[in-house]
Amino acid sequence: MKNFFKLIKFLILISSLIISNVYAAGEKQDLLKVDWSFKSFFGKFDRASLQRGYQVYSEVCASCHSLKHLSYRNLAEKGGPEFTELEAKAIASNFEVTDGPNSDGEMFERPAKLSDKFVMPYANTQEAIAANGGAYPPDMSVLVKARGGGANYIYSVLMGYEDPPAGVELDDGVYYNKYMYGNKIKMASPLDDDIVEYADGTRATVDQMARDVTTFLQWTAEPHLETRHKMGFRVIIYLIVLTILVYFSMKKIWSRIETKV
Ligand code: HEC
Repeated sequence: MKNFFKLIKFLILISSLIISNVYAAGEKQDLLKVDWSFKSFFGKFDRASLQRGYQVYSEVCASCHSLKHLSYRNLAEKGGPEFTELEAKAIASNFEVTDGPNSDGEMFERPAKLSDKFVMPYANTQEAIAANGGAYPPDMSVLVKARGGGANYIYSVLMGYEDPPAGVELDDGVYYNKYMYGNKIKMASPLDDDIVEYADGTRATVDQMARDVTTFLQWTAEPHLETRHKMGFRVIIYLIVLTILVYFSMKKIWSRIETKV
């Protein structure tokens, strides 16, 4: 009997070793971890980073990735990049949208207004796929929430471009990325030092831009994060006060009951 248990123990040990090895050999890499300002319980967005992140999105990513759930007015809302309404209007007016029909029954182009949705880079999915060598650049409105690892995943993909290790062959238009599933991605590294010029004088290194645009994308995926954090704090204060009140009223009620000895 004793030997039987020994055998079972041995089998469990061996199988756990095999399982952990299989996982280690898989292509899953630990993501890079960033100490995001919005992660903690009281976490808030870094306003300047959100504004820079919008700049990176609009100057670099917007030519391929849409943000279809966002309207230009969102840029001026509380809890977001908080551009002034005038700034948001100016941003919107740089884009052309199709409107109509007019009184002659024709569609026409006009500058975008605050109420318009973000202009899409492609007319439809097929055009997006055709223009990107057969890969679809996913809409980014909720990408942070759609991927395990969230903000750290987006940041890691942006920072994860490397020369392929010896023996790994890549087709044309395919790039090696440490953090993409299967290590292959059909997006060339979109960032390069100083490809944008930040108005606030921050140096636009790849790392800085990756942080800023990820912060911006976290906000697009979770525009009410700050309100939620504030509410959570209030609820906890409320519960503490309620617990104290209930405790004292309970003491009062029970004090009238004589204890039998
Ligand atoms: C030239 C077009 C192009 C530009 C510019 C571009 N991307 Fe991409 N991106 C793509 C394509 C195509 C894919 C899909 C790749 C694949 O599936 O292999 C992709 C995929 C991604 C992914 C991986 C998504 C996933 O499925 O997990 C992330 C993250 C990403 N892009 C972020 C960005 C960011 C941030 C920017 C701007 C700094 C940007 N991209 C700029 C074309 C582009």
